[in-house]
Amino acid sequence: MSSRGASLEIRNVDLSFGGIAAIKGVSFEARASELLAMVGPNGAGKTAMLNCINGIYRPDAGEILLDGRNIPGSRCTRWSSSASGVRSSTPSSFPISP
Ligand SMILES: Nc1ncnc2c1ncn2[C@@H]1O[C@H](COP(=O)(O)OP(=O)(O)OP(=O)(O)O)[C@@H](O)[C@H]1O
Ligand SMILES: [Mg+2]
Repeated sequence: MSSRGASLEIRNVDLSFGGIAAIKGVSFEARASELLAMVGPNGAGKTAMLNCINGIYRPDAGEILLDGRNIPGSRCTRWSSSASGVRSSTPSSFPISP
């Protein structure tokens, strides 16, 4: 991790709920200290994508890399302290780093 934060790389992530494709082939990159916004209509898959990043959902395909290390499959408590949190309408369960 750089001294100013972790870089996040999303590569070709797919996630389906039953027959519904919530995320299909999504890729993007967030470098350390970069601020990105995810925009889209209701049901576009924004929350599903965030929940793949924070470890609540495991993608069907693709990779989610935090400083080059694969997130899916690892315990979120192991890496949450090295990444910025996601502010949502509900309180975070871990401290958000600057
Ligand atoms: N737990 C779930 N079970 C089944 N389907 C789900 C689940 N979570 C999301 N979906 C479906 O996945 C798709 C993406 O939903 P998601 O909640 O990620 O969209 P969103 O972009 O966050 O929408 P909004 O702007 O309303 O918050 C939708 O079709 C939604 O119905
Ligand atoms: Mg949402």
